[in-house]
Amino acid sequence: ATFTAPLALAQGYPTKAITLVVPFAAGGPTDIVARTLAGVMTKSLGQTVVVENRAGAGGTLAAGHVMRAAPDGYTYLIHHNGMATAPALYRKLPYNPQTDFEHVSQVIDVPMTLLGRKDLPANNFPELLAYMKAQGDKINLAHAGLGAVSHLCGMVLRQAVGVDMTTVPYQGTGPAFQALLGGQVDILCDQTTQTTPHIKAGTVKFFGVTTASRIKVLPDAPTLAEQGLKGFEVVVWHGIYAPKNTPKDATEKFAAALRAALKDPTVVQRMTELGAEFVPDAKLTPEGLRSWLKQETERWGPVIKSAGVYAD
Ligand code: MLT
Repeated sequence: ATFTAPLALAQGYPTKAITLVVPFAAGGPTDIVARTLAGVMTKSLGQTVVVENRAGAGGTLAAGHVMRAAPDGYTYLIHHNGMATAPALYRKLPYNPQTDFEHVSQVIDVPMTLLGRKDLPANNFPELLAYMKAQGDKINLAHAGLGAVSHLCGMVLRQAVGVDMTTVPYQGTGPAFQALLGGQVDILCDQTTQTTPHIKAGTVKFFGVTTASRIKVLPDAPTLAEQGLKGFEVVVWHGIYAPKNTPKDATEKFAAALRAALKDPTVVQRMTELGAEFVPDAKLTPEGLRSWLKQETERWGPVIKSAGVYAD
């Protein structure tokens, strides 16, 4: 018996603050999920999990940053569907989401909502459709860049209704939502983690949810699919990524803290109130993220190709 093992553990990871990179502006949906989890994980890991917002290029700037970061267990990325859509959207994407990272875990799912500025002359989805058809490219759709789920949802909407709207990019849907509240843009597709309180307070027009079936926090809201957009379904899922070759004992410890945080009563309550859906434990694994990322990349690639949307 020696003291070697316990000593190694006592000196073990993490010995300093860990950075969790959010690829969109502070205050928005991804940031809300990240900060809610980081607070609880800081307590269980005994080191601060610092949330760092690195917005730009629809989340691809942040992913590139983390891909190049030191693989020492002190930098992680939280990202969503954008990891699956970026390869089809960016002709010169500087990383391969499927091979250039350690896949740590999925996190949580979030439904989206279709919103309009408060004074938009449409009170329900059929009225919005008629208004969009009449206004055409005078309709401004806010989004958070190519690779953002707000953009993806807008793109699917545009294809489904056949109206060539004008798209207006922001650094995240935090600022995009402010533009909607200020009446500078007409419509926005955004996540319930940000939109639920505003929908309940009536500060925006609300036209439906993007999930296949209705959601618990907004039970009276029809889905877009049941309002005529057959098969319309956009659900936001999240993954945690580390630079390739980050030691397994680090990613496993981070993942264990994440899984514990997702069961923390304050996290459960907050996320549930904001409409987020907890995922099965099988998804909270490297393989659970890897296989889902592959599946989603295969799902969205052709959709994006047929929309003809890309960045050089
Ligand atoms: C954000 O946090 O700003 C959003 O996730 C951006 C988006 O993808 O729409």
